[in-house]
Amino acid sequence: MDALQEKIKEVVAHHGRERHNLLPVLQEVVEQERYLSDYAMTLIAEEMGISAADVYGTATFYSFMDTVPRGKYLIRVCKTITCYMKGKNQILMALEEALKIKLGETTPDKKFTLMETNCLGWCHKAPAMLINDDVHTELTVEKVHSIIKEYKERP
Ligand code: FES
Repeated sequence: MDALQEKIKEVVAHHGRERHNLLPVLQEVVEQERYLSDYAMTLIAEEMGISAADVYGTATFYSFMDTVPRGKYLIRVCKTITCYMKGKNQILMALEEALKIKLGETTPDKKFTLMETNCLGWCHKAPAMLINDDVHTELTVEKVHSIIKEYKERP
């Protein structure tokens, strides 16, 4: 049995094998694995005695669940009007340059994923971005480079 199989066995045992526990099971697996692979969904289906299509349907219906791999640090740059007017495109370009990836991509070391998001509620300090749960505001190209440098040094 591989590590993922073991983990899924544990998660299912913890929540219970009944179909109505599928959502919490999926949530916990996403939390631990950071995304839901096809393999994980197949294992969940087996473990709970339901069809893989059922698992997949539920996972994609609740689109907050990631079915693509994401980095350890998820960067979300605000793309809404105030940030847009305050230069979010330059911020995005600086991030792409610092991380050597394009919007929507993950670095090969799986450390960073670059995404856009809607207004973060920090318009008065635009442009803004989130890195996981931390907000970074009044961004400039220089600031972006030093923030990324700092995150790159983190384990
Ligand atoms: S528009 Fe970017 S935080 Fe509100």
